[in-house]
Amino acid sequence: MAAILPRFDMLLFGGTGDLVTRKLLPALYRRHAEGQVCEDSRIYGIARSQLTRAEYIAQAEAACREFLGAEFDADTWTAFSRSLDYARVDAGTPTDFSALAAALADRAGLVRVFFFSTASTLFASISQNLAAAGLVTPLSRVVLEKPLGNDVASAELINHEVGLIFNEKQIYRIDHYLGKEAVQNLMALRFGNALFEPLWRRGLIKHVQITVAEELGVERRGQFYDNTGALRDMVQNHLLQLLCIMAMEPPASSDPDAVRDEKLKVLRALRPLRDRDVLTKTVRGQYRAGSVRGVAVPGYLDEADISPDSTTETFVALKVEIDTWRWAGVPFYLRTGKRLQDRLTELVVTFDDVPHPIFEKPASSEAANLLVIRLQPDESITLTILAKNPGEGMRLKPVSLSLDLGETFKTRSIDAYERLLMDTVKGNLTLFMRRDELDAAWRWIDPIRAGWQEFDEKPKSYIAGSWGPSAASALIGRDGFEWHDEP
Ligand code: BG6
Repeated sequence: MAAILPRFDMLLFGGTGDLVTRKLLPALYRRHAEGQVCEDSRIYGIARSQLTRAEYIAQAEAACREFLGAEFDADTWTAFSRSLDYARVDAGTPTDFSALAAALADRAGLVRVFFFSTASTLFASISQNLAAAGLVTPLSRVVLEKPLGNDVASAELINHEVGLIFNEKQIYRIDHYLGKEAVQNLMALRFGNALFEPLWRRGLIKHVQITVAEELGVERRGQFYDNTGALRDMVQNHLLQLLCIMAMEPPASSDPDAVRDEKLKVLRALRPLRDRDVLTKTVRGQYRAGSVRGVAVPGYLDEADISPDSTTETFVALKVEIDTWRWAGVPFYLRTGKRLQDRLTELVVTFDDVPHPIFEKPASSEAANLLVIRLQPDESITLTILAKNPGEGMRLKPVSLSLDLGETFKTRSIDAYERLLMDTVKGNLTLFMRRDELDAAWRWIDPIRAGWQEFDEKPKSYIAGSWGPSAASALIGRDGFEWHDEP
């Protein structure tokens, strides 16, 4: 059982929104059920709606019942709900913050976590109003949910304004992929074993693929998504963070800044994709009607809150190069999309062929010399090697060494938000993005969008339930490779 944390206060701005009700409250419930959240901690939902505490708790209970399913337990809920409260606050109205300050007046000595799950355009005014009401103490932390800005300039401005109130050590920029057990395991695989390090480089690795595929469409977030698109919603953060963990140099320690320094070096070494590069090294896609797992689904343009002539991409594939000694000449192919065939997050490392083959080429077209690290839906590591086919002659065949981490450890792995929320209380910044990382990520992303605009690169349509537009297969095919699941 996890150690109980000293009492704390957590203030969830955007308290009636999707993230708080779908992810944060269930995560806090689970940590409470595990005994990590003491009874005297307080969790405030904060939003503009006129709600009483009882009404908010009823809403929160309904959400937790829905999202926790069989895990929900009425007695645990009753105990958890004693910590829950609600405050009606308008982000831009200073007087609304005074009531909050009065409620927390005798708790200034506790860790105080402000979680901003609102549009990032409100982050500055919420910070200023918190400070003006005297709510920001030396033990306060602020958690900034993505997307933080929508380009370099807007992200810089928000970081600057929030930085006037909170110092960098108090700012927790969330990328929930970093909180996933499987992503932590990738760090364990790379830096807990000497085995892989000598192989992890040019000359031994041919190419790397990172796929984050979703079956879901835009759900209830049409308006947000249509203004954002897959490049900013997924690549700027989750895919680049996965890429960093795959490609970074071993850090000198597991200290937050040691890890973040190494990730930053990767982001800064990404070869810019400028101008015409976008035509050869990127693919944009948008789903049309189709079926996912046998269920008919509408096209993107027919989803709620999507403009009927929208050119927002729901799919992106990229060829990425990292200009370092370790990675020069090794392409990284990144791909993400909504309404694809499967929910799948996977990293595939293809090792080089032997320099001088002495056996006949295997008859099977299946690839060998592959390391497949699957992060979702199940967590597994599979190494495909060539082995001798039993019988006469020396015929080789790909076979797999497979490790199912769920089976091996037989415990529920904790959800990303459970880990990240508790890290904010503990004051551990390792799994959060530093300001310079975020800046470097936007600096690499912005020219891609500019290139798409300059060359009027519209998204190519793909059928919902497929693996994306055929241009994505062509992108990797031009280099003589294919996506792992598309042989
Ligand atoms: C979010 C994106 O950050 O990540 C969503 O905004 C996406 O569009 C989600 O669906 C995917 O996260 P997960 O944990 O389900 O892989």
